[in-house]
Amino acid sequence: MDSPRKVAVLVGSLRRASWTRKLALALCALAPAPLALAIVEIGELPLYNEDWEGEPPAPVRAFRQAIAAADAVLFVTPEYNRSVPGVLKNAIDVGSRPAGQSAWRGKAGAVISVSRGALGGFGANHHLRQSMVFLDVPMLQMPEAYIGHSPSLFDERGALANESTREFLQRFLDAFGAWIERATPR
Ligand SMILES: Cc1cc2nc3c(=O)[nH]c(=O)nc-3n(C[C@H](O)[C@H](O)[C@H](O)COP(=O)(O)O)c2cc1C
Repeated sequence: MDSPRKVAVLVGSLRRASWTRKLALALCALAPAPLALAIVEIGELPLYNEDWEGEPPAPVRAFRQAIAAADAVLFVTPEYNRSVPGVLKNAIDVGSRPAGQSAWRGKAGAVISVSRGALGGFGANHHLRQSMVFLDVPMLQMPEAYIGHSPSLFDERGALANESTREFLQRFLDAFGAWIERATPR
């Protein structure tokens, strides 16, 4: 059997009790055998500053290496002011430089947006897609994933407790696995 495809999971919220992180952890646990999901942390990254190039800070180097080592990237993000939270946009920018050496190059991608309300973070989902077009990361188109009413999906221990969401995420991960093989053949 082929080795599993490594998927770097980026979470767009730093909040300790983040619903988005709970969903990302559920995805890591649900991943089917052809995929190995692991969260790559973004909270320690400094704000991007082009002055570093030449001697980037250690967390920047470690982040770029972690992305470069993955086959694919899965963004799991809330929406801030109808767009991508700054902390996640910063990670995208950090990974994209220096010019011509983007860590995102050659990856397949997907995005799941999460909201407390009903809308499911549509604005964040599509603003993120816009950046990934420029970074030449082919993004899974279907199924789209807008997860609304996040607090209702988990039990008191923070485990995913909503059966239809679990089934949807399983279908999503299967489709993403097929997309990775198609967009970035071995
Ligand atoms: C600065 C800020 C802006 C927000 N803007 C939106 C928004 O545009 N759309 C939305 O659905 N929720 C918005 N929210 C609410 C977040 O969806 C909510 O705080 C959510 O729980 C954050 O995700 P988390 O639980 O993973 O931290 C915003 C929250 C903050 C702090």
